[in-house]
Amino acid sequence: MRRMYAMAMRSWTKGAELERVELPTPEPRAREVRVAVHAASVNPVDWKMRQGGPLRLAARAIRTFRGPRGPIVLGVDFAGVVEAVGAKVKNLTAGQRVYGGTNFSRGQHGSYADTVVVHADQVCALPDAVPFETAGAMVVTGVTAWMSVSEFRPIEKGRRVLVLGAAGGVGQLVVQLAKRTRGADLVAGVCSARNADLVRGLGADEVIDYTTGDALERAQAHGPFDVVVDCAGGYKASRCRGLLAPGGRHVMVAGDSPAAMAQVVVPPFRSRAILGKPTHGRLKAVADAVAAGQVQVAIAERVPLADVEAAHAKSKTGRMTGKIVLLPR
Ligand SMILES: NC(=O)c1ccc[n+]([C@@H]2O[C@H](COP(=O)([O-])OP(=O)(O)OC[C@H]3O[C@@H](n4cnc5c(N)ncnc54)[C@H](OP(=O)(O)O)[C@@H]3O)[C@@H](O)[C@H]2O)c1
Repeated sequence: MRRMYAMAMRSWTKGAELERVELPTPEPRAREVRVAVHAASVNPVDWKMRQGGPLRLAARAIRTFRGPRGPIVLGVDFAGVVEAVGAKVKNLTAGQRVYGGTNFSRGQHGSYADTVVVHADQVCALPDAVPFETAGAMVVTGVTAWMSVSEFRPIEKGRRVLVLGAAGGVGQLVVQLAKRTRGADLVAGVCSARNADLVRGLGADEVIDYTTGDALERAQAHGPFDVVVDCAGGYKASRCRGLLAPGGRHVMVAGDSPAAMAQVVVPPFRSRAILGKPTHGRLKAVADAVAAGQVQVAIAERVPLADVEAAHAKSKTGRMTGKIVLLPR
């Protein structure tokens, strides 16, 4: 049987390192595809799963019930070439360029590997204009940003939007999608002063520096907002709702602690926590925007997959303004 290479943990023990492992390459089942990975990338969820807390608990419980057994391969984002398709997959063929995301809750290995096997509805054909490295860096961030601007309180012409954490992986895409694809009238981005030019360059009309004062108080000058998207965490939901126009909505992207979640499951239900789940339709919307040049994906570094441990350490600083791309080949 063919073997695949992955970076994986041997157990869920806190501090367990990511090490090189070889695993049997799964054959795709009827509705699955096997993809040769050319690029993957790091998302905060990857290293949060290694720490204590709700994410690790959930991931561990899901794996216990759904598998797979053996080493734990982390990672969601990938881009690559279809190697094989299951009997019932009609829309994809071997040799096609695709990108997509793995799904723990479907019992799949993650994308820190040279090969992934996922359901066909978790990938999307990749336009020639989008390189693998870009595509492998826009799955979780892209899909989450797309959901933030289009699925709860769809942003459209005339709307005013506030993006907290505008310089991060998700925030950068929210700013660009809101302004350039959804036609928001005003986008205000909250970031530190060193990233002000970056955020302005992405299309933000106003930039608020959170390091020299209360960002939410300053944001009032540009509101009220139809949508407040929190991609940073640490901002109180009730204060975010206080900046909303009538009918406005607060979208919580960051904030995976039980305390943060508790703030959005209480009335008046104008807040929603979203979970960026890669589906064909969402992936296509992001790919189209990137292929059309409306949205750019910042890449901070490209490193061999074997260096993922160092990549996690960098991502953990919370200061990244571009994605770390992992190259397995
Ligand atoms: N719900 C979901 O499905 C989902 C999906 C993706 C990500 N997330 C979560 O969303 C968060 C962001 O993810 P990401 O991939 O964008 O992370 P990232 O790229 O690592 O974001 C880092 C950015 O956050 C900014 N930042 C840090 N503290 C801030 C603050 N108090 N106010 C404003 N900006 C601040 C930093 O900018 P400065 O250096 O300018 O401070 C930095 O550029 C993470 O907590 C992640 O787990 C959730």
